[in-house]
Amino acid sequence: MKILVTGKNGQLGKSIQKTVNTDNKIDNNHSPNDFIFVGRGDLDLSSESSISQYFKNNKFDIIINCAAYTQVDRAEQEAELANQINHLAIKQLASIASNQQAKLLHISTDYVFDGESDTPYIETDRPNPINVYGKTKLAGEQALQSVMPMNALIIRASWIYSEYNNNFISTMLKLGKKQDEVSVVNDQMGSPTYAGDLADAILEIIKHKKFRDVGQTTQIYHYSGEEEISWHRFAKEIFKIEKIECEVNSIATKQYPTPAKRPRNTFMNKDKIVKVFNIKISNWEFSLNTCMTILKQKQ
Ligand SMILES: NC(=O)c1ccc[n+]([C@@H]2O[C@H](COP(=O)([O-])OP(=O)(O)OC[C@H]3O[C@@H](n4cnc5c(N)ncnc54)[C@H](OP(=O)(O)O)[C@@H]3O)[C@@H](O)[C@H]2O)c1
Repeated sequence: MKILVTGKNGQLGKSIQKTVNTDNKIDNNHSPNDFIFVGRGDLDLSSESSISQYFKNNKFDIIINCAAYTQVDRAEQEAELANQINHLAIKQLASIASNQQAKLLHISTDYVFDGESDTPYIETDRPNPINVYGKTKLAGEQALQSVMPMNALIIRASWIYSEYNNNFISTMLKLGKKQDEVSVVNDQMGSPTYAGDLADAILEIIKHKKFRDVGQTTQIYHYSGEEEISWHRFAKEIFKIEKIECEVNSIATKQYPTPAKRPRNTFMNKDKIVKVFNIKISNWEFSLNTCMTILKQKQ
């Protein structure tokens, strides 16, 4: 069994590596030695020739694609590059996976939705991205489904955070330690996803018969933490856990203009992934505490 994981230096890539390396024997079918983690230096998704060259010499049973162009604001200026990495590279990966008879597990985003729904998004709801990042990720999903109508799986996650790299938690901790107050938007709702939880879910899925069996129709699944919250609520909880005395002012999105528009509410329904793969959805406060305990141990 050879399993490729792309994006090894990203939040999710690092979280999968951690989970794989702490589980000495993943199950009867997988061991940590089955996994190969690659970064941009090994496999550059912005280059068609880098992709074809890499796979000329490497064949896999499962490809887990965690690499993506994730700079939501910068994508507005770098639409072509974002489209190459999030869309065209996925089309090429799907074609390669199909030729190699490999399974492809790809990560997408809640930003494929416009955020105007008043009910939690289900997988069949109509996407309508409102920024370049969301448009390129949706194009990637659609290309994958068209090239690989079978044997692939897409997980849409939202608001990913972890103990790695720069993210909302590290930004808040930095600001909270040097300022008496910060202003955070209270009218963008969603659900934070702890990358460690998503890594566990991915490893559960690749063990599952429903994923492993050849000829399964390609499906989309939603995954995030439980409960719908605002960034403001998230920031308050981070300071509470860390016992940081910093006031969190509640502001509206229009008071904090950004180059890319953000959807108002992308809370997703996770019933499908729970039902099909028996995946546990974590309470967001519990997972945030877990992540921040690990962060503290790293200091
Ligand atoms: N972060 C979020 O809030 C969020 C929310 C919903 C969905 N998602 C999706 O979840 C997945 C994982 O996100 P994440 O938070 O782990 O992202 P991340 O931390 O930004 O990691 C993305 C990785 O992609 C790599 N990458 C970028 N351009 C590349 C290229 N040209 N060739 C090869 N690798 C390249 C980056 O490499 P370098 O380290 O070399 O830059 C980075 O390691 C992505 O598909 C993302 O779209 C993320």
